[in-house]
Amino acid sequence: MPEAPHVPEGVDISMPTPARIYDYMLRGHNYFDADAHAAEQILSVAPEIRDAAWSNRGFHQRAAAWIARQGIRQFIDIGSGLPTVGNTHEVVQRIHPDARVVYVDNDPMVELHSRALLESGGTISVICADLREPDTILDNSDLRALIDLSQPTGLLLTGVMMFVSDASDPRGLVSRYIHALVPGSYLSLSHLTDDFKPPAAAEGFRAVFDTATEHMYFRSKAEVARFFDGLELVPPYDGAKPELTFTGVWGAEDPELADSEGSRWLYCGVARIP
Ligand SMILES: C[S@@+](CC[C@H](N)C(=O)[O-])C[C@H]1O[C@@H](n2cnc3c(N)ncnc32)[C@H](O)[C@@H]1O
Repeated sequence: MPEAPHVPEGVDISMPTPARIYDYMLRGHNYFDADAHAAEQILSVAPEIRDAAWSNRGFHQRAAAWIARQGIRQFIDIGSGLPTVGNTHEVVQRIHPDARVVYVDNDPMVELHSRALLESGGTISVICADLREPDTILDNSDLRALIDLSQPTGLLLTGVMMFVSDASDPRGLVSRYIHALVPGSYLSLSHLTDDFKPPAAAEGFRAVFDTATEHMYFRSKAEVARFFDGLELVPPYDGAKPELTFTGVWGAEDPELADSEGSRWLYCGVARIP
């Protein structure tokens, strides 16, 4: 493990967090022993999870770029994770140098490590908040300073809704965010599934999060599809029907080659808000 990262005040490093486990999977540097241990436990039951993490990150980036190419210049990235290679603003500002991105995450490590990004000419904000409180996020003055909700917006919810239990009404929450956006906005969402996985591997993977700051919930294709109810899904690649697919396959030049065991842990889709 590289040099231990700075511990922000109030951060419990003994309990693994989704952001830091994901950082370990992506070979970042902002995790602690408890996160590395949790990640290794996951890899021991499902070795392809590192590939799953990369495939999710690849989808996140390809989808954000695709949305930007539809003319979208402002993005709300919820459950944004620790800064990594190819952050959302880097991806979309390649297309629109003036694009604005608001990052939202409930892990205080994300806010701390994202502060350096704020140098990027006033086009970025980082908010430490829980997506289960949509009004707090949508009314946040930093968000409102960068995002004009009367204009089309890209809403990115990749790899995050699986940390929201049914009791917290995940579909109602997504719907609340969507209703705050104008027609012509886009949603990008990915979500873990165990539809194609051996029950023992899925349960071993899920159970690791019983020891973490957030529990984790797999959802079936039909359950993930419901997040897109009333929206216009876009075809995931040239020649495809508009439908959900696996993260590796979305936007792939060769979908057959891009299909992998890791990628099959996550459904994803991009949809236009009518
Ligand atoms: C697996 S990472 C995904 C990061 C990034 N969206 C991506 O797809 O590459 C999940 C992120 O969601 C964040 N998260 C989990 N539950 C959350 C909640 N209730 N509110 C805000 N963020 C949350 C975690 O802290 C973590 O950074």
